[in-house]
Amino acid sequence: MTTIKLQVNGTPHDVEVDAATPLLFVLRNEMGLTGAKLGCGLEQCGACTVLVDGEPVLSCVRAVSEFAGNQIQTVEGLAENGNPNKVQQAFIAENAAQCGYCTSGLVIATTALMERNPKPSRSDINEALADHLCRCGSHVRVLKAIEKLSSVGGSDDR
Ligand code: FES
Repeated sequence: MTTIKLQVNGTPHDVEVDAATPLLFVLRNEMGLTGAKLGCGLEQCGACTVLVDGEPVLSCVRAVSEFAGNQIQTVEGLAENGNPNKVQQAFIAENAAQCGYCTSGLVIATTALMERNPKPSRSDINEALADHLCRCGSHVRVLKAIEKLSSVGGSDDR
């Protein structure tokens, strides 16, 4: 076991874990942040996506020790003053989820997209979501939510 220093959702944490433990398991099992999900466990589905220094990163394989010193943000950390951020609000408004298993990863990827490009084209959106699989068919509503958000200026308007 090793002590790893992590910055998660703006708060420093010292976690006692095997340094090779995937980041996702530390977030879920040691910190109780269960928004990011274990889907494939093979970096193939996007359910485990979190932001690392503002970039979407798959957390199901890479060791927690790789993330010491980085700013990690999970879907739980996106809320602003206790309220959903613009992306979360857009997903809620469009009912852009079915089972919800992929939703955290999609919201994280969309938040990153809107931060770097508040008015993404359909092609930009497709590219940003290419690593995210939805198994139960809400993808059209996800696209609609993001396109509506992009038409009002994105997350800069929060
Ligand atoms: Fe990480 Fe599927 S659980 S990509």
